[in-house]
Amino acid sequence: MPTRRHFLQASTVAGLAASALSAQDEGEKKVSANDRVRIALIGAGGMGSGDAETSQKVPGVELVAVSDIYEGRLTRAKERWGKQLFTTRDYREVLARPDIDAVIVGTPDHWHAKISIDAMNAGKDVYCEKPMVQQVGDGRAVVETQKKTGRIMQVGSQRVSSIVYKKAQELLQAGAIGELNMVEAWWDRNDAIGAWQYSIPPDATPENIDWNTFLGRAPKVPFEPVRLFRWRNYRDYGTGVAGDLFVHLFSGMHFVTGAIGPTRVFATGGLRFWKDGRDVPDVFLGLYDYPASGRNPAFNLALRVNFVSGAGDNSGFRFVGSEGIMTIGNGVTVSKTPRETEPGYTIDTFPKAVQEAFLKEYHAKYPAQAPNADNMRPNVEDKFQAPRGYSDHLDHHRNFIAAVRSRKPVVEDPVFGFRAAGPALLSNVSYFEQRVCEWDPETMTLKS
Ligand SMILES: NC(=O)c1ccc[n+]([C@@H]2O[C@H](COP(=O)([O-])OP(=O)(O)OC[C@H]3O[C@@H](n4cnc5c(N)ncnc54)[C@H](O)[C@@H]3O)[C@@H](O)[C@H]2O)c1
Repeated sequence: MPTRRHFLQASTVAGLAASALSAQDEGEKKVSANDRVRIALIGAGGMGSGDAETSQKVPGVELVAVSDIYEGRLTRAKERWGKQLFTTRDYREVLARPDIDAVIVGTPDHWHAKISIDAMNAGKDVYCEKPMVQQVGDGRAVVETQKKTGRIMQVGSQRVSSIVYKKAQELLQAGAIGELNMVEAWWDRNDAIGAWQYSIPPDATPENIDWNTFLGRAPKVPFEPVRLFRWRNYRDYGTGVAGDLFVHLFSGMHFVTGAIGPTRVFATGGLRFWKDGRDVPDVFLGLYDYPASGRNPAFNLALRVNFVSGAGDNSGFRFVGSEGIMTIGNGVTVSKTPRETEPGYTIDTFPKAVQEAFLKEYHAKYPAQAPNADNMRPNVEDKFQAPRGYSDHLDHHRNFIAAVRSRKPVVEDPVFGFRAAGPALLSNVSYFEQRVCEWDPETMTLKS
């Protein structure tokens, strides 16, 4: 058979999932009244609501308060999670409550750093959505506040908790594809919602929305609901496709390789199709140089986001090594094509007599093999898949809640979060300023 496929036995997969969870379950076994973790949600839109929902699946977690600057999302929060919820448009009222242990920050990007820092200074643990910060200059203050206060802070790129990425990490470290020399990742979409054209509620009025608070540190502009409900389209509040999607790719890739970041960043692209007033590109390409570190030799990374892909939704990872390729998409696949046992030749342009002399020598060195079954060279493909229904998002919240209880480190602390956000944000700097950015991933500083 030219191709051999191994599918991991169901029992082994279950074992994989169980071992990934066992450490986190530690804290859950002994849930008593005293071990309840009381959480609040700040920013109750799509992802924040998903985070609150997932967090409450972890035993002992209780959602007690929700803050949002749009009244409709507070009403919706009570519809979903009960009338007993404390709701407010002002997140500082949430932070002032002594009965809240931890907050989830699910606001647009330009509020992440400020609310996370305020929350930690108020004695709360923080689960902050990705990207950890909107501007490279915001990162250090978050890292330092976490160190100073000793609060637990988890950044919300859930791939870092995924058993699929864990398997990829183990395979790479075990040498499954030889020496890594390149990584490619892409994320393609083609529909309006995929390109961030989210619905705008008909009750979006200045009475229902605290517009000035939404703007925060962004320039003051008159009330215009599209800027709130489609904030990703504007650099004042979001981080473009790099902060929205590249950051997941950086997080996943750093977790798998153990790399901490690139030294050089270059990005290009354009606004090609979704000309709806947005000021960020819808086709975006980034190139990154990673230095040798730990077990990895130096390698290059190429990332792509395309919202104008006629082939529709598609995303994935390819880790290219000297002995094979590992892909992450729906599970992890390692593919290997054995190298030729002889080098081959290109002698057609040599004089006839020289060709003959060459061939004589060549065949003496590489005797011809009869084409029989014994010397066929098999391609090898090993495939690993998570069990049906597996959720890395739940694992990521389990990891956070376990850390809130045990005070042990999380998988994605502010240093990890900033090392993923930094190169993503520098991709925007490179694109808008049309230059290559030099980054020191160790100290997390922009060198150029
Ligand atoms: N981890 C993931 O896979 C993932 C997926 C989607 C989004 N996200 C991240 O989650 C965050 C939210 O994205 P979304 O799609 O849910 O956006 P969204 O617009 O649906 O929700 C944001 C909410 O924050 C509210 N808000 C704005 N400023 C506020 C403030 N100062 N105080 C309180 N509430 C405020 C808005 O009214 C809105 O309800 C983003 O940072 C995004 O990058 C992560």
